[in-house]
Amino acid sequence: MKTPTALQALIDDGVIDEVLRPLKSGKEAAVFVVRSGDDVRCAKVYKDMAQRSFQQRVQYQEGRKVRGSREARAIGKASKYGRKQQETAWKNTEVDALYQLREAGVRVPEPHGYFHGVLVMELVTDAEGFSAPRLGEVELSPEQAREFHAVLVRQVVLMLCCGLIHGDLSPYNVLVGPEGPVVIDFPQVVSAAGNNAARQMLLRDVNNLTAYLGRWAPELFETWYGEEMWALFEAGDLHTDSALTGKFTHDERRVDLDSVRDAINEARDEALIRQQGREAAALAD
Ligand SMILES: Nc1ncnc2c1ncn2[C@@H]1O[C@H](COP(=O)(O)OP(=O)(O)OP(=O)(O)O)[C@@H](O)[C@H]1O
Ligand SMILES: [Mg+2]
Repeated sequence: MKTPTALQALIDDGVIDEVLRPLKSGKEAAVFVVRSGDDVRCAKVYKDMAQRSFQQRVQYQEGRKVRGSREARAIGKASKYGRKQQETAWKNTEVDALYQLREAGVRVPEPHGYFHGVLVMELVTDAEGFSAPRLGEVELSPEQAREFHAVLVRQVVLMLCCGLIHGDLSPYNVLVGPEGPVVIDFPQVVSAAGNNAARQMLLRDVNNLTAYLGRWAPELFETWYGEEMWALFEAGDLHTDSALTGKFTHDERRVDLDSVRDAINEARDEALIRQQGREAAALAD
């Protein structure tokens, strides 16, 4: 096909050799199937910021660490400079999240770099090698629905252990590969520790999955995994191997706000230390 303008620079730089076909053009991005040497991959081209709503991003930005106070102020103010900086921050967030989550063992496409504003990543395929269907497009048996739910809840736990919440998890941001569900679409990923709306977003993410998969396995409607994992996370007791039950007793007693705050601060410090570790490791590379 004729090379889209946004991908020409990647061809010129030798990052990709050929654009094979468009895969999907969504609200925020256009995704293309590309060839790099012998590998077929996909390239996500972010749509112009002007085409998207700017203010709706602000709540997602809350709690995200931004280098330098000028940058942080600019993003807050939505000035022209701020708009430009946020566009960069927004686009980089997905790439950063993919690298971080992939390293943590979360089932996400393998990232192959970010060039000229384009994310190049593994093309998730089905067993025949065609681009994988979205979870929202497939029919499931009750067993499959239960299994996918367990796998996806696990991915949400692993993400939370990295201090991250997807923020837009739905059957349309999960692909079904031969080995099961793969989570995609991370530009709006939120920090679990620093965002006031984090709990609601986590519960919404888990509820979206439960509501969908519950169609095939209605017993899932009786589960409370989001509430359960958040309670563990807040108490500093959520670990990558934490066994969840799906049961949750809503606590009617007064919450001990100090210990909640301490746990959140601790998680935030830990995330910062890990981030600094990654930055130091990246510099050493
Ligand atoms: N790594 C991938 N492998 C296979 N298909 C992919 C991959 N990434 C994205 N897609 C396809 O492209 C579509 C759009 O990607 P994505 O959800 O990341 O962007 P988006 O613009 O935010 O989309 P939307 O607004 O529809 O949610 C996906 O629904 C999926 O069908
Ligand atoms: Mg999407």
